[in-house]
Amino acid sequence: MLDMKKIPAHVAIIMDGNGRWAEEKNLPKLFGHNAGMKAMKEIVKRASALGMGYLTVYAFSTENWKRSEEEVSGIFKLLIKYVDKELDELNQNNVKVTILGDHSSIPTQARERIDKAVSYTSDNDGLNFNIALNYGSRDEITKAVCKIGEMVAKKEIRPCDITEEMISDSLYTGEAKIPDPDLLIRTSGEKRLSNYLLWQLAYSEFVFTDTYWPDFSPEEFEKAIEEYQKRDRRFGGRRK
Ligand code: IPE
Ligand code: IPE
Ligand code: MG
Repeated sequence: MLDMKKIPAHVAIIMDGNGRWAEEKNLPKLFGHNAGMKAMKEIVKRASALGMGYLTVYAFSTENWKRSEEEVSGIFKLLIKYVDKELDELNQNNVKVTILGDHSSIPTQARERIDKAVSYTSDNDGLNFNIALNYGSRDEITKAVCKIGEMVAKKEIRPCDITEEMISDSLYTGEAKIPDPDLLIRTSGEKRLSNYLLWQLAYSEFVFTDTYWPDFSPEEFEKAIEEYQKRDRRFGGRRK
């Protein structure tokens, strides 16, 4: 049974397996991404209903540009469709949308829709739904180092004044005031981080499932949270 008093404040998800889901059904890859969007919609609803503070999903990585032009543009088109269809409901559910990633190279139409979703929901104070889009953790850390380097160059701080907190605050997540994830879920059986939240996941609990993302249900989401609730988080200390 889910302990409603111990819902993790922040769950991060690597939504993986859309391609294999489609392949096994002899369908084009984009059908998998479309089914993946539907699964995402249901997980957002459940996270919101559980009173979760933050849900961060990996939608497109800085490495995903290596895929075919057809697949990449198809993913961004699906994202536009998702915003057009779901924005009102997200807003009614008091969900606040934030985008994490390098905004500059997202195709214009998708960027406009995303900006609309962000500004439309900016006053909401329910679930913080963060979409990692054109996101790469190394890119994020590199940009943070650049910002801090500028401060050093301007002699605002000395190199050894740099603290862990300053680094955290300079990441996309820090700028959006998002705490580190308590739980990371990756679907599809892969057990790697694929350049996701490397700094922020330092003490998160990991749950891996073989389920392909389009089949990942709100019930399985709750199972993963139950698994998390059984873990003993020590942060390097001793069990109390
Ligand atoms: C995850 O599904 C979605 C994105 C990376 C955009 P994949 O497309 O990576 O699915 P698999 O790993 O090929 O099955
Ligand atoms: C990670 O999945 C990125 C997203 C889910 C958006 P990938 O499918 O791109 O990761 P690899 O290539 O299997 O490591
Ligand atoms: Mg994959």
